[in-house]
Amino acid sequence: MNTLVNDGARPVALVTGASSGTGRAIAIAMAEDGCDVGILGRRTEALEQTALQIRALGRRACVLTADVRDEQAVAAAVEVFLAWSGGRTDVLVNAAGIPGPLGATVGELNVSDFDAVMATNLRGPFLTMSHLLPVMCRQGNGRVINIGGNHGMRGRAGRASYASSKWALRGLTRSAALEVGPHGVTANVVAPGAIAVDRMRQRWADQAAAEGVSEEVILERYIQSLGVALKRPNETSDVVATVRFLAGEGGRNITGQEIVVDGGVIV
Ligand SMILES: NC(=O)c1ccc[n+]([C@@H]2O[C@H](COP(=O)([O-])OP(=O)(O)OC[C@H]3O[C@@H](n4cnc5c(N)ncnc54)[C@H](OP(=O)(O)O)[C@@H]3O)[C@@H](O)[C@H]2O)c1
Repeated sequence: MNTLVNDGARPVALVTGASSGTGRAIAIAMAEDGCDVGILGRRTEALEQTALQIRALGRRACVLTADVRDEQAVAAAVEVFLAWSGGRTDVLVNAAGIPGPLGATVGELNVSDFDAVMATNLRGPFLTMSHLLPVMCRQGNGRVINIGGNHGMRGRAGRASYASSKWALRGLTRSAALEVGPHGVTANVVAPGAIAVDRMRQRWADQAAAEGVSEEVILERYIQSLGVALKRPNETSDVVATVRFLAGEGGRNITGQEIVVDGGVIV
């Protein structure tokens, strides 16, 4: 078992955005590492698919259908989760997130799109943390891992809302880390670059079809445009490995940090 071992009970994790992509992969990894896992997202059916995989590993899964932007919905989901977990939370991973509009400049970006990105990528993690940090502090242990992005480490033309949300997530995480550190709780950001999740693969495939070229050509051009030193995108497993590290023994004395997983863009 890699994940933080608590004081005898089976560890419990809550992972948001666990209905697809990176969040789903993280939720399954937490189960592989010995956790029972609460999985939160808006699509119940997709969450049930994740739950099946967790249960196949012999762990318990609690499906929590909620919109992370919605204060009441998150409060209700956390209440159900804590009743299910016996009041414990050892690991909280906030992976729910949206990219928002691609290519719109600050002058073109509409306010509702900006607000939606901030509400999902910042308010969401704030809401889960506001409920679960006190629980972790009472326990005297806990790991919070927020999935940021390397656009939260730099500016990016045409990605102002997304970059703003991921920068702000760092501020939230660092501040919380200082507050909860004396109680044995850590809070960190994992900041990936492009991850080859289904949503991204579809985008590359659509572009390849539109241009009549292979997906390899599109991917190579994309990686080139980002300036990725290692010349490859992340697989979800790259991000998962870093989350596992922070949730496990290696993360015991690491807090208030951002770990960039982007193949060498932010260098
Ligand atoms: N993919 C990349 O290239 C990349 C790069 C850097 C960072 N990231 C970050 O990594 C994280 C995961 O991204 P991904 O690309 O793997 O995800 P994805 O496959 O697009 O899935 C996004 C997840 O977020 C959930 N979600 C979105 N809005 C939500 C809301 N309002 N309430 C509850 N859940 C919501 C979705 O669940 P429902 O649809 O069921 O609600 C889904 O599970 C995000 O924080 C993203 O910003 C991704």
